[in-house]
Parts: sequence; structure tokens; C-alpha cells
Amino acid sequence: MHKDCEYILLDESKIKELVLRLSSDISNDYKGKKLLLVGLLKGSAVFISDLMREISLDIQVDFMCVSSYGRSTVSSGDVKIIKDVTTSLKGFDVLIVEDIVDSGNTLKYIKEYLQSKGTESVKICSLLSKPSRREAHVDIDYLGSEISDEFVVGYGLDFDERYRNLPYIGVLKTSVYS
Ligand code: IMP
Ligand code: MG
Repeated sequence: MHKDCEYILLDESKIKELVLRLSSDISNDYKGKKLLLVGLLKGSAVFISDLMREISLDIQVDFMCVSSYGRSTVSSGDVKIIKDVTTSLKGFDVLIVEDIVDSGNTLKYIKEYLQSKGTESVKICSLLSKPSRREAHVDIDYLGSEISDEFVVGYGLDFDERYRNLPYIGVLKTSVYS
């Protein structure tokens, strides 16, 4: 385990189990639909790579990049689109793929934005959720796991751009950011 982690919250086999459950639900629900996965960079990069390879349908994949927290561990609530999708969205059933829902501000904004682009439907798939920190209401249609209010890193999740490459999800020691 990385020395900056307090403990491992989800190990590789547990993550795999979550990904398989989600991909199986998605594969059942989107049969016959025109599914576009939209991954939110950079946090969901690892998750969406595993998820898309387990979906047994013809799908398309695109990415958006929205403003992040920088060196802080709390959201400003002020969302900016840094990179938009390049797919023409009309007629697509869009599934936003996110690493973690915290305040919910990012997803509320992005969902409304994608709904305004002539999409057939817009739903949300997130690996993790911290319900105790919610400010904006968002329905998470496909959720891997709820977690308590701790700052986690690994499997794509960062603190100050570090730790994304850890293959597990660990709780970051508070001494690293306080
Ligand atoms: P929200 O708008 O507050 O829901 O922000 C969600 C985003 O904050 C996620 O996509 C992550 O990039 C980041 N985030 C929230 N909690 C954590 C965490 O525990 N570790 C790493 N990133 C986090
Ligand atoms: Mg993110």
C-alpha cells in the first residue's frame, strides 16, 4: 500500500466485482438503444476503461473535462467545461460516467447541459458516492458503492493530480492535505 494511504477501502477484486455488476445492468437496460458513454476526465479514465470493455453492446465513447478542485479537497460549486464532447449528441442515450459524486454540483450541471443538446436520455453511472456531502440533488442511476465522508485516491481518483495510478482505492491520510 502507498505510504500516504491510511487503509485500502476497495481492493482490486472488489472494484472488479462492482464493475461487473454495473456493466451487466447497463448491458441489459440499453439493449436496442443508441448508447454513448461520456466519461468525465480525468477521474473516470480508469473506471470507464474497465467498464466499457465489459459492456456487451455496440456503443460509442466520448469524454468531457470539467474544472476540478485543484489543490483543495472541497468543491467550489462553480463548474466550467474545459473540453466538450466531439460527438453530435442528437438521438443518443447518454450515460455519464463519473468516478465519485460528492456535492453533486458537477453532475447536476453536466446532466442539464447534455439534456439541452437534443439527447434521447441522459443518465448517470458513478463508481462511488458520498451521500453525506450532497448539496445538489442528483439521481445516480448506476452506482458502484456509497462511501463515508473520507477523501479517497487511486483507480483514477487524485489529490493534487497524484495517486491516479494506484490499482486500488485508498483513504488518503489527512496529514497529506491538512
Ligand atoms: P462534486 O461536484 O462535488 O460532486 O465533485 C465531484 C468531483 O470531485 C469528482 O469527480 C472528483 O473529481 C472530486 N472528488 C470528490 N471527492 C473526492 C475524493 O474523495 N477523492 C478524489 N476526488 C474527489
Ligand atoms: Mg472527477
